[in-house]
Amino acid sequence: MTEVLRVDPADPDQKLIARAAECLRAGGLVAFPTETVYGLGADALNRQAIQRLFTAKERPANDPLIVHVAAFDDMVPLVADVPRAARDLAARFWPGPLTMVLRRSPRVPDEVTAGLETVAIRGPSHPVARALLERARIPVAAPSANLFSRPSPTRASHVFADLDGRIDIIVDGGPTDVGLESTVLDLSSDRPAILRPGAVDLHALQAVLPDVTTRHVATGGDMAMRSPGLQTKHYSPRTPVILHEGDRETALRLLMRDARARAGRGESIAVLAYAEDLDELRSLPVRVVELGSEDEPAAIATRLYAALRECDELGADAILVRSITTAHPLSGAIQDRLRRAAS
Ligand code: TXA
Ligand code: MG
Repeated sequence: MTEVLRVDPADPDQKLIARAAECLRAGGLVAFPTETVYGLGADALNRQAIQRLFTAKERPANDPLIVHVAAFDDMVPLVADVPRAARDLAARFWPGPLTMVLRRSPRVPDEVTAGLETVAIRGPSHPVARALLERARIPVAAPSANLFSRPSPTRASHVFADLDGRIDIIVDGGPTDVGLESTVLDLSSDRPAILRPGAVDLHALQAVLPDVTTRHVATGGDMAMRSPGLQTKHYSPRTPVILHEGDRETALRLLMRDARARAGRGESIAVLAYAEDLDELRSLPVRVVELGSEDEPAAIATRLYAALRECDELGADAILVRSITTAHPLSGAIQDRLRRAAS
């Protein structure tokens, strides 16, 4: 049975945190909120716990996990060496939604790194995550707490829907803040490269490390090998998602034409819609799930995965959405997740 422990996100009950921490120390599986999405935690140095975690999520073994630590110093035993860049980045962005990929130490089990010579590490800022890590005093491997191929969970109810009966505890600390997974930055090769865009964007990283680049992992090839979990098919809801790209006018026109054509063929359509498009969409025989205003990408990021799950529950034949066109540090990450959902 999965137990749900409800805590105040700002000031979590230490008794409940202690219970969840004990469970982790004993090899259990505990879902908890981070500032990005809910994670499914297990003792990163306990192979059996890690194997249970992969089973619970139905996650392929070639998809490496992110190890969560309470403080920068807790990362030192997990890596081969601590590059200057890691220190500088952590000083600026930790705790927070930045994951660093570094050369690993032999202490980290192969199950965590999927056999790679690197390990991904992050220091989350959410008070519940921090309280749990501080209390458990172990590094905690935590992928997003969804079933593999389902959208990442941004509420405890999403975790419950996917993993009830498969894990020991869900610490419910309310909805997460950012709503998209952390930025994954590879610091293990010659040139630092973003493997997954997130709330810490390219410009913010370049302010600390000027030579950071973006690498497109979605296309496969070398980077797909470097980060096997970042294959395109990763964030998809069950219903096919069709992404119409381009500037607002173009993409909306394409989306509306597509919706009419599909409705004409008898398909039932859900549209994931920006507030700005609602008037135009009213004329169509579609069900609309609102994403919020395109002018507020932070709010869209917070809501995106919940909206994808809502669309999924409508049981439509297709979910249509257009690309986000506003310039904002989060827009690249949102567009990345829309593309993955649609792939
Ligand atoms: O925001 C987040 O990062 C959330 C919260 C729970 O912290 N976690 C998360 O974990 O999104 P997950 O497992 O869903 O995604 C981690 C991604 C994987 O797709 C994997 O490919 C990449 O990080 N990754 C992990 N270890 C890696 C490594 N050694 N080298 C390259 N990529 C790695
Ligand atoms: Mg995930």
